Amino acid sequence: MRPYRWRKPMIDPKIEVTDLKKHFKSNEDLFTRLFGWGEVEYVKAVDGVSFDIAEGESFGLAGESGCGKTTCGKSLLHLLEPTSGSVRFDGRDVTDPDVRDEMDFRTEAQIIQQNPYESINPRYRVFDWIKEPLDVHEIGTAEEREETVIETIESVGLNPPEAYMHEYPSELSGGERQRVSIARAIILEPSFILADEPASMLDVSVRASILDLLDRLQEELGISILYISHDLSLLKHMCDRIGIMYLGKLVEVGSATEVINDPQHPYTKALVGSTPTVDPDDRRESVELQGEIPDPVNLPSGCRFAPRCPEAMDECTAEEPAMYPTEAGQQARCVLYDEETVNTIPK
Ligand SMILES: Nc1ncnc2c1ncn2[C@@H]1O[C@H](COP(=O)(O)OP(=O)(O)OP(=O)(O)O)[C@@H](O)[C@H]1O
Ligand code: SF4
Ligand SMILES: [Mg+2]
Repeated sequence: MRPYRWRKPMIDPKIEVTDLKKHFKSNEDLFTRLFGWGEVEYVKAVDGVSFDIAEGESFGLAGESGCGKTTCGKSLLHLLEPTSGSVRFDGRDVTDPDVRDEMDFRTEAQIIQQNPYESINPRYRVFDWIKEPLDVHEIGTAEEREETVIETIESVGLNPPEAYMHEYPSELSGGERQRVSIARAIILEPSFILADEPASMLDVSVRASILDLLDRLQEELGISILYISHDLSLLKHMCDRIGIMYLGKLVEVGSATEVINDPQHPYTKALVGSTPTVDPDDRRESVELQGEIPDPVNLPSGCRFAPRCPEAMDECTAEEPAMYPTEAGQQARCVLYDEETVNTIPK
């Protein structure tokens, strides 16, 4: 079986991420910086990630804390400068600052942050906070901006708008604040939104209503969304496809339902094995996730999951596995799906 290699799909994707890397310097002190003493070490937070998102599609990124989900999302939006790799948006490489300016990338791509208590400036009233992007981009007259803000406040379910627009964030609940953040994210009519743990800081009682709102807005506005979450059942509910990340790499990509009901990569099996389910179509095995996540500065050679993998063998540490297609339809970064390797394993 030939290793999976990313290839251009028949329909041009909205977002096309190719071999994206973001490495942070982990130990650079003054002497190293000034005199070049000592060796600079890097945290390979995102270490060669490739995926694409179609127009109107929702794609989820999952994985344990620290595996690089947020860094990947922020590098994709250029809120962090990628170390290397390309991000194509409507076919144009937005790692190039001229392209970003030309296509008004800041209006096309927006972010909804995890913490609605930190993401809204406490000195702004709701109306001014939501209107600010229209002011910055000089869109419409004063009356048109006011009308757009009121319509947007209504569309995120803060009704009647007059009851909310003069409030400060401190006067709002967590759910209401997240609705304000969503209103600000959609006011410029973006075609792509990154939603990083959009409901995890909220009370369980309001989570579902925020997710339903995002679902409805995506459908109405045809936005592509990248969801980042620890919560696999949330991703299964919200996403068309998902990618599982481990130590800066995608290890499995496929339809959200299949990845969670029938995981292929040993890491995905372990990750989903600990999530309770009532779904009768669920075909996953229960596998315990053992050991600690290795140090992202000194990654293991070969497969980076090998030190924790119950199926590890000598072949796994030779070189980093490619992505291979699996019979279940997913792609998995594991030599168990490489026929050449499997044929050499004694039965
Ligand atoms: N600015 C930074 N400087 C150095 N290291 C960083 C920086 N930001 C993130 N990291 C490191 O990069 C790795 C990935 O972090 P990231 O926040 O992207 O993970 P995550 O998957 O979003 O985790 P979580 O689920 O906890 O939000 C971690 O090892 C983290 O410590
Ligand atoms: S390549 Fe080997 S160590 Fe890595 S996930 Fe597959 S079986 Fe486990
Ligand atoms: Mg994160």
